[in-house]
Amino acid sequence: MKTIAVYPGTFDPITNGHIDLVMRASRLFEHVIVAVAINPSKKPAFRLEERVNLAMQTLQDLSNVEVCSFQGLLVDVAREKKAQVIIRGLRAVSDFEHEFQLAGMNRHMEPNVETMFLTPAEQFSYISSSLVREVASLGGDVSAFVPSCVAVALNNKTH
Ligand code: COA
Repeated sequence: MKTIAVYPGTFDPITNGHIDLVMRASRLFEHVIVAVAINPSKKPAFRLEERVNLAMQTLQDLSNVEVCSFQGLLVDVAREKKAQVIIRGLRAVSDFEHEFQLAGMNRHMEPNVETMFLTPAEQFSYISSSLVREVASLGGDVSAFVPSCVAVALNNKTH
């Protein structure tokens, strides 16, 4: 059976930390689906199509990685895509409690899908999309945190 993992998130925008995790997952699983959530509760800065396009551009060289968007429950996407695994990133202990709740709820709704946690490389442990957006909006240099196409998109948003 093909091993398929889904990596969900808002990706507003995708950062080098997210990419680091996708690369790790792409070495472990035969197919990795980066699932970009509409997530209206977060009021994303980038439109869904922008978030999907930036993820696609950034991950285009990884042949076993697909990018899609989704609305509704993550477990429904996992079922539809026949994924056995949900990947989530743990950057620090502070991520744990929220992730533990998500994993528990998802397991309750779909016991056949396991949540697996990966940790990003150390230098990405303090990156988050909202911090990157804030630094960019205040004129800071984000080139160490995001790929160049994302840096350009952030710059266009701000100016
Ligand atoms: N590198 C850099 N940043 C990372 C990261 C990494 N490796 N891992 C997480 N982050 C950051 C994100 O950038 C984000 O930062 P922000 O809050 O500043 O934007 C934050 O950590 C966590 O966000 P993200 O990973 O995008 O996840 P999320 O919490 O926004 O997404 C979903 C949560 C989409 C997975 C969840 O809401 C979901 O499953 N929604 C579908 C509806 C559903 O099924 N609900 C029931 C869930 S039980």
